[in-house]
Amino acid sequence: MNWESRKIILGVTGGVAAYKAVELASRWTQRGATVRVRMTPSACKFIQPLTFEAVTRCEVISEIWHPIGTGDRPEHIGAGDDADVLVIAPASADHIARLSHGFGDDVVCLTALAWDGPMVVCPAMNDRMWRNDAVQANIGILKQRQIEVVDPAVGHLACGAVGPGRLADLDQIDEVVSGLVLPKEMS
Ligand SMILES: Cc1cc2nc3c(=O)[nH]c(=O)nc-3n(C[C@H](O)[C@H](O)[C@H](O)COP(=O)(O)O)c2cc1C
Repeated sequence: MNWESRKIILGVTGGVAAYKAVELASRWTQRGATVRVRMTPSACKFIQPLTFEAVTRCEVISEIWHPIGTGDRPEHIGAGDDADVLVIAPASADHIARLSHGFGDDVVCLTALAWDGPMVVCPAMNDRMWRNDAVQANIGILKQRQIEVVDPAVGHLACGAVGPGRLADLDQIDEVVSGLVLPKEMS
């Protein structure tokens, strides 16, 4: 069993780092994995679904009200049947709040709500947002649920500040995801 039989759901939410998720999708696709991208409407303001479709050669879904094919189940339920991992990168502060409180009002958090496999959440935001008590409390809830949170890196932020909030290094995210999707001896 290797990358070629692996299925990854990549949830992309509304932050500047959304463009970096394309690189993650590309890496995993190049290794042979099937990468199904799910985007929030805000994420689509930052990057077009078409970019992910071009890179993954899979349809991207960005709204809950997606047509259901004959014999199919709703997308957000069916997605959990055969995927190996759900990765949310970048995860906005807003999304983390909805995820930690069990909201299902966009296709990414709805998919997460119907998901009982390994989940990796990669926050990215301004440093003051990251330090905000509400954000930290919500991150604490996710960690308590054994969700793998890849903490943001410290560095230059899109807003011009320097501090914690940058999406973690892609190699680090990749390593965490590899450890979850590959058998121990291969990761
Ligand atoms: C220019 C701009 C950049 C933003 N960057 C971020 C960001 O990096 N991280 C974040 O948490 N929110 C960021 N936001 C705010 C989110 O886009 C906003 O909270 C949105 O509701 C998130 O929606 P979603 O969680 O459904 O994707 C930004 C907003 C704007 C206008």
